Amino acid sequence: MTPFNYVWMNGNFVTSKDATVPILTHTLHYGTGVFEGIRAYPVGNDLIIFRLQEHMERLIRSAKMVYLNPRYTADQLSIVTVELMRKNEVRRSAYIRPIIFTGSESLDLDLRKSSLHAAIAVIPFDKYFEKDGLKACISNWRKISDSSSPTKAKASGNYLNCVLAKTEAGINGYDEALLLSQDGTVCEGSGENIFIVRNRELYTPPLSSPILAGITRDSIITLARDDGMRVFEKEITRAELYSSDEVFLTGTAAEVSSVVEIDERKIGNGRKGPITTRIQELFSLLLACKLDKYFAWLTHVYTENQSIKAAITKNRQPRMKRRS
Ligand SMILES: Cc1ncc(COP(=O)(O)O)c(C=O)c1O
Repeated sequence: MTPFNYVWMNGNFVTSKDATVPILTHTLHYGTGVFEGIRAYPVGNDLIIFRLQEHMERLIRSAKMVYLNPRYTADQLSIVTVELMRKNEVRRSAYIRPIIFTGSESLDLDLRKSSLHAAIAVIPFDKYFEKDGLKACISNWRKISDSSSPTKAKASGNYLNCVLAKTEAGINGYDEALLLSQDGTVCEGSGENIFIVRNRELYTPPLSSPILAGITRDSIITLARDDGMRVFEKEITRAELYSSDEVFLTGTAAEVSSVVEIDERKIGNGRKGPITTRIQELFSLLLACKLDKYFAWLTHVYTENQSIKAAITKNRQPRMKRRS
């Protein structure tokens, strides 16, 4: 994995070679960081970043949940991300990884003794899953409960749970792991939210369950409802999962990925279904800037197109510095 040449770190653009941290970095030992995953896509001569502002807002919310009080605002981080993309001259699909982490002054578990840092790196990125039509398993690892760690925070330490599930699934020949809550209800994939389809209606676990409040999840709920589908946020049992007509996962990395088999049981007829196909189609149209209604979700990095600029400024986009 080779990042683009420039990384933004603590207010400066530095080369990725110089963007290093000491071995005693607190986050490296204890997972005391929060991060985001954001995608950028080329559209014509432009590059769009999907829901940049919402990702940065979630980053700040995550930080606050785990006693990290960031110096930067979501607006500031959104602006430097656009500048970083321009500085790196990113013109292809890419994954943006902002992280807020703690320094190397102390190995004490009291976070107040550690300094706070922020960085944003960008890597070239295409598909997360090698195929559409995934084979998944219910993980032996249960989702951590909110009484142990705030699952709404995209916190580095929370991801050991996800890493264990995904690695175990891979070892056992599956593409993805699905985690149940401590109570046995369906939560999410190792790095995605989950939707099931029954009788052409969509169901996804509610935000009161221990899941990440996925930005793709939110986008898909909106897109589906606007397309006339009924979407319900409700708890899903393991039996409902196995007997659903279709299952798909949503996430920044995974986008919209169909699941065709879970624990050796075919979902529906074992092939991607029509609702998943329609959702994927809508999501692609959205990312190709073909759905005007959702322009506010797209930050244009290089656009010279006045009508798009007007659409952006009408909505709540951060103010960008002009490119020289
Ligand atoms: C555990 C987990 N759930 C859900 C998601 C999906 O969230 P989003 O759509 O915001 O990427 C992710 C990915 O960020 C994740 O890591």
